[in-house]
Amino acid sequence: DLAGKLAGARVLMTAGPTLEDIDPVRYVGNRSSGKMGFALAAAAVAAGAEVTLVAGPVQLATPAGVRRLDVRSALEMHQAVFRELPGQDIYIGAAAVADYRPAEPMNCKRKKSGDEWQLRLTLNPDILADVAARDDRPFVVGFAAETNDVEKHARDKLQRKRLDMIAANQVGLPHCGFESCDNALSVFWPGGGEDIGLGDKQTVARRLLQLIAEQWSAR
Ligand code: C5P
Repeated sequence: DLAGKLAGARVLMTAGPTLEDIDPVRYVGNRSSGKMGFALAAAAVAAGAEVTLVAGPVQLATPAGVRRLDVRSALEMHQAVFRELPGQDIYIGAAAVADYRPAEPMNCKRKKSGDEWQLRLTLNPDILADVAARDDRPFVVGFAAETNDVEKHARDKLQRKRLDMIAANQVGLPHCGFESCDNALSVFWPGGGEDIGLGDKQTVARRLLQLIAEQWSAR
């Protein structure tokens, strides 16, 4: 039962993909549906938290009680997160932030010309790592999508990005992860870990939120 587990806590989260514009009609994107992040936001509300959700473009209804801020690109998401960050107790980075964006976005639609188009991309800021690098940081939870050696890569990311907790899903399995309604997670924190078995995203989100609440209050 989640009731009261995060009573009075302020939770800032991100969810969904980011879309990186090439020109007014084209973009670089990814297949994130935002379902896991939205389910986590609903679970955080059920636990009594005050929830702000920074969402990339998704086709999902806002969970009751959630304050939602819509953004499009990684740069917009970074800006919204840092504007909202002061006073937050917990940060959960569930968004599939694009690692790269078009280096020279165009104001006019690019005309078809020639047999090839080489699109130059430039690195986006790592929102999660930037939040975790702050002195007055909240409790920081990240996600990782791995195809192999899940624990090794997740623990490495936990350390490298200075996270308090990381939730890894193995991608490339049927019924799992991006776009699908079910998920399974391996969760790691500096002193331990837990596997959350395959379930619908609501159930998995509620268990993950319980682990977050436990580790946050124990810290
Ligand atoms: O290193 P990797 O991209 O696999 O890490 C994934 C985690 O980092 C997710 O929690 C994601 O929300 C976050 N992230 C971010 N900003 C980026 C890239 C990833 O916040 N530019």
